[in-house]
Amino acid sequence: MFRGFITILCFSFFGGCQKTDFGSCNTEEALYQNANFPIGTAVSPIEIESNEEYANIVKTQFNGITPENAFKMDALQVIEGVFSFSEADSIVAFADRHRMRLHGHALVWHNQLPAWINNYSGSKSDWILILEKHVKTVVGHFGNTVTSWDVVNEAFEDDGSLRKNIWFENIGEDYIELAFKFANEVNKDALLFYNDYNIAQKTKKCEAIVEYLRVLRSKGIRIDGIGMQMHIHLSYPSNAKIGSAFNAISEADFLVHISEIDISLNTSGEMRLTENKLQKQGEKMFDVVSAYRNIPKEYQFGITVWGVSDADSWITTYFDRIDYPLLFNEQYEAKPMYCGFKEALAN
Ligand code: XIL
Repeated sequence: MFRGFITILCFSFFGGCQKTDFGSCNTEEALYQNANFPIGTAVSPIEIESNEEYANIVKTQFNGITPENAFKMDALQVIEGVFSFSEADSIVAFADRHRMRLHGHALVWHNQLPAWINNYSGSKSDWILILEKHVKTVVGHFGNTVTSWDVVNEAFEDDGSLRKNIWFENIGEDYIELAFKFANEVNKDALLFYNDYNIAQKTKKCEAIVEYLRVLRSKGIRIDGIGMQMHIHLSYPSNAKIGSAFNAISEADFLVHISEIDISLNTSGEMRLTENKLQKQGEKMFDVVSAYRNIPKEYQFGITVWGVSDADSWITTYFDRIDYPLLFNEQYEAKPMYCGFKEALAN
């Protein structure tokens, strides 16, 4: 799969502009090769074991991985107090074998909870014990095989208010700082992240998160960075909004992780895949990565895409719609989105 870049010079009404055709590019050199920060992907242990094309891409193109589901609470603690780590450990072994940075996702979230917890009734202190046991057991189990954790995932609503999830209802907002405190007590080295979606799109949400975490920090709680999921679309959020969110987070002294990027092409429900849309997706990826490279290096924690190919993206199943949001197509061939990514890293 060796292809060359074609660069087209275009001249708009406003003067000269350079537009790159992301139709094809060299995939022999790894995506991460020219990057100053790790380039990761979300992975599933079953695909790694049973799908050779998938596993090959993961091994050769990326130097970071995030378990897509295997580290979530419903996977690790199916029965109250009983932890099962075998699937998760297979990812640890894979990451170790291929020298990839492993990002743990996610310790405390309102989704993908085990059934028992939804039926659990207990006092506030009982709930705090559940939180403590889960966070400490999981962080303790993985030790330094995991470089960084999404400690709390999606605690905010789009309007900047706190989400009234099961943890909030039973513990109150303290569950957020407790989660970070418990994680820190077990591992002082692993980097601790808060992770959420729509951070660039919803300015109020971004401001509320940054301010909330800044206050926790001033109380002595260790929070190292913010994960911006970035499940985005071709036309939104705008590049300006994306750049502002990167700046707001890094200026507040938090590492920035693009933690789950994918770019949806299907916003209307109807989907006809065209070359033009694929090109635009390549341009959007180029723009996002270029903006990310504008923040100071010390804040660039890395970029992680949420899956390998369009055949395995969560978007099609979760939202039940046709879509093409990832770097590789269903035949595991690099798309313009891959080339746009690479070009922005090399620039
Ligand atoms: C998704 C997974 O990709 C799917 O396989 C699963 O069915 C649902 O969760 N935000 C997150 C991720 O933080 O954990 C979600 O992952 C996608 C949205």
